[in-house]
Amino acid sequence: MFDPEKFVNKAIEDLKEAISGTAVIACSGGVDSTVAAVLVARAIGDRLYGVHVDTGYMRKNESEDVAELLRDMGVNLQVAIAGEEFSEALKGAVEPEAKRKAIGHTFIRIFERYAKEIDAKYLVQGTIAPDWIESGGDLRDVIKSHHNVGALPEDMDMSLVEPLRDLYKDEVRKVGRYLGISIAEKQPFPGPGLAIRIIGEATLEKAEIVREACFIVEDELEKAAEAGKMEIPWQYFAVLTSAKTVGVQGDVRAYGHTVAVRAVQSIDGMTAAYSKVPHEVLEKISIRITNTMPGKINRVVYDITNKPPGTIEWE
Ligand code: XMP
Repeated sequence: MFDPEKFVNKAIEDLKEAISGTAVIACSGGVDSTVAAVLVARAIGDRLYGVHVDTGYMRKNESEDVAELLRDMGVNLQVAIAGEEFSEALKGAVEPEAKRKAIGHTFIRIFERYAKEIDAKYLVQGTIAPDWIESGGDLRDVIKSHHNVGALPEDMDMSLVEPLRDLYKDEVRKVGRYLGISIAEKQPFPGPGLAIRIIGEATLEKAEIVREACFIVEDELEKAAEAGKMEIPWQYFAVLTSAKTVGVQGDVRAYGHTVAVRAVQSIDGMTAAYSKVPHEVLEKISIRITNTMPGKINRVVYDITNKPPGTIEWE
């Protein structure tokens, strides 16, 4: 049985010993990096510097919320606005692995710039077990190179610290709860952000669309769960597919994009079952998305694939 108290005490001891200078951590706002930041801050205090990178591929209001939360918890945090830098790096990238690598490299470059400023010798990351297992860290084949593992440049001149690398998601949440982190129940969000929820080239214009669609999916499912119509899924979001289809808007032919809604039940993200969301809720989501973005989105589909054979994200 996993004991969060024991884990935290041991981790703090190990971190105190391992980190002799200043360390930098990228705070995405996800459960993993938030738990890692608080854990390391407990060990080395203000020798830890947090940077939140607003990549331009974040969810609605996410960067503002993340900054407020971490600062409230006493993490010394700076926000780097980097949408243009990321979209430039993603220009022409269509293949999912190429996108992940471009994002990973851009992240690391930004950290390195920031780390140089503060003379950090250590880079802390919230990598968890499924990240490196699925990235071929074991004897398995690469399924997807999760950006915080597979895309590290070889010339990185900081030592990597990964205090959560042996934990699964449910264990990270237990540690988060134990540390008193209020977002410990937040749904997971992938490191590469909305860029891997846009099939094909991830422009900032498409990011606007998928950001709004993700917000609607989150809002409607959370409202439905609060109203007792369904259980809240483990993860739920929208994907901007590359399919354009014909529709009608008023009396006029429209040719717009297709959004896919994805909601899954899972324990640790390693396997997943698609959520049996009531049709009335799905219909509400569909109507709201198409009404909010007329001319851009004219079709909404629901993904009924389990993992395996699918993965949770589409890329
Ligand atoms: P998949 O799509 O592989 O996702 O079934 C399993 C879980 O991991 C999240 N995910 C990522 N997390 N970096 C991350 O930190 C990544 O590159 C990444 N890709 C997927 C995904 O959202 C799901 O919760």
